[in-house]
Amino acid sequence: MRAVINFSVLITVVFLSFLVISGFSDKDQIAAAKKWNKDTPLSVVLNDLGEKQPAHFVKDMSAEQIKKGEELVKIGKTTSPKGRKAKFISKYYACTSCHNVVREDPDLTKVSPESRLEYAKDNNIPFLQGSTFWGIVNRKTWYNDDYVKKYGDLLDKARNDLKESIQVCAVYCSQGRKMKKWEVDATLAYLWSIQMKMGDLDVSDEDLAYLNEHASDKSKQAELVQLVNSKYLDKSPATFADPPKDKRAGYTHKGRPEMGEAVYRLSCMHCHRANGESEVILDKSKSSFKWLKRHITDNSQLSMYEVIRHGTYDVLGHQEYMPLYTLEKLSDQQIEDLRAYVEMGAGTGFSALPDSGAEDAKQSSRF
Ligand code: HEC
Ligand code: HEC
Repeated sequence: MRAVINFSVLITVVFLSFLVISGFSDKDQIAAAKKWNKDTPLSVVLNDLGEKQPAHFVKDMSAEQIKKGEELVKIGKTTSPKGRKAKFISKYYACTSCHNVVREDPDLTKVSPESRLEYAKDNNIPFLQGSTFWGIVNRKTWYNDDYVKKYGDLLDKARNDLKESIQVCAVYCSQGRKMKKWEVDATLAYLWSIQMKMGDLDVSDEDLAYLNEHASDKSKQAELVQLVNSKYLDKSPATFADPPKDKRAGYTHKGRPEMGEAVYRLSCMHCHRANGESEVILDKSKSSFKWLKRHITDNSQLSMYEVIRHGTYDVLGHQEYMPLYTLEKLSDQQIEDLRAYVEMGAGTGFSALPDSGAEDAKQSSRF
């Protein structure tokens, strides 16, 4: 009798240890560990963790659709699915007149126009009023904060819906027409193709190991989602601002002309070039700088303070307008940097400062 009990105890113990060693739950974890790496798209991780796909999710997108979307964004038109030529969305702009399509912030958890400008210089990309399309599908709201002052009710739907946001920008920001459904879908397909990947976020190997280790633990999902979401901003904040009260004195920051050069070249000259979005050409000639300098203290849009902080408005017959820069896109310090550069150019000149064009800035436009 005693031997029998011992034998069954032994069997049980052996069986249980076998279960633990080869354990079912362990197996899941190993499978998960293989699953996410630095190339895994952010939305895949969040979806695996039980987050619902957003309304702008595109299920089956083809390479052709992505290509059409890219053309719509960079050129402003493409051929319809039936092979017909379609019209430009806007006569005046492409989306890339005002938006980048590559990463533009070194630290994805912070808004910093200063570090964005450094990054733009290093990568030779434009520095613009609109937020980049890279990672835009990973955001949760659009046209945030103060944009309601400019677009009002139009944002009721757009704020929480990327498709609606695209339409608002097609019709209003770019002074064009409403996009067809297939155009919006193609644009979205392209935008999904430039979403963030885990390796773009500041996710350490330990973070990744931790995520993979607990991936299949339901009780940890909320914590893991929070961990992933803490690695990037899920919106582009937007704060409108005003010119300085006393334009002669300016903002209370000391201008740094070498930083101003980057603002001028990567931002202003992106549109104010020959055959550009604006008819006003701003180049590195003394006359451009003198003109800008002369009007700094004006109470009109000729003053760079006014035009930067308030933009210009479209009027019938002249629909090209200049979008304003929020504090997140150009800081008061950077405006003073620009002023210092402009004043230097209007005066003694700056042969010591760098002088190169932003190649992407030129390529990204159809003009
Ligand atoms: C003349 C400039 C301009 C053009 C052209 C333009 N946009 Fe915009 N767009 C803006 C500005 C300015 C904003 C608001 C600030 C921002 O992007 O964060 C904006 C915002 C957006 C947003 C919301 C971004 C966010 O994260 O809040 C989307 C989506 C968008 N635009 C799509 C488009 C598409 C698609 C096109 C081309 C069909 C386009 N835009 C063309 C200037 C422009
Ligand atoms: C996204 C394109 C774009 C960018 C970037 C841009 N502008 Fe403009 N700007 C325009 C457009 C469009 C107008 C309207 C006048 C026109 O159509 O030529 C304008 C108008 C102006 C005017 C008034 C001109 C007038 O005769 O009324 C000034 C001054 C000006 N911009 C300066 C700047 C400066 C300085 C920068 C850089 C900080 C800058 N712009 C960046 C597109 C742009």
